[in-house]
Amino acid sequence: MRLFLALEPPAAFRRAVAGRVEEVRGSLPAASWVREANLHLTLLFLGEVEDAALDRVAGTFAAVRAPALAGPVSVEGAGGFPEGGAIRAVWLALAPADGLAAVARAFRAAASAARIDFDAKPFRAHLTLARCHARWPAALRERLGELVPSPPPSFRPDSASLLSSVLGPGGSTYTVRARVPLAEAA
Ligand code: 2AM
Repeated sequence: MRLFLALEPPAAFRRAVAGRVEEVRGSLPAASWVREANLHLTLLFLGEVEDAALDRVAGTFAAVRAPALAGPVSVEGAGGFPEGGAIRAVWLALAPADGLAAVARAFRAAASAARIDFDAKPFRAHLTLARCHARWPAALRERLGELVPSPPPSFRPDSASLLSSVLGPGGSTYTVRARVPLAEAA
């Protein structure tokens, strides 16, 4: 199964984000917008994992004591991937970026020690909103800030979710396979 570890924001946070998207998306070019229920922050992407290895993966992550965040997770801006030029995907930047990176690092270290494969590309604390049908012109970058809800929502994660994903025509379907408690944020 295709597995990843993510923070799942609570419903009120997701509603605030999706509500803002609904207001703005009509004036932007075509894209596949992530369903409200699916909005998440990926900490670690494992990719294809044998079903039989799920318990070992969940057990490895359950033993991780990730550092507590200095404060709630909040939206602090918007951006597009790749960093420059035409836009392929649109996301919200999440703070505290360093604290979230430290959490991701703790899980990466545990995965490495347990010889569990993962995507090692540099971590960016982001919540993907949309994947563009055709790349959007770079000039649209200056409009992405419109996607930030006002006031910016925040949440205090108490666990990370090990999710499996099945790709379908209407987007991905995620299933929670395990929850890993996190230290309480300050
Ligand atoms: P993205 O939102 O930036 O595309 C499920 O696919 C989640 O895992 C998505 O949040 C996706 O991030 C993330 N992810 C990280 N690395 C990935 C990879 N190599 N392939 C697919 N998804 C990846």
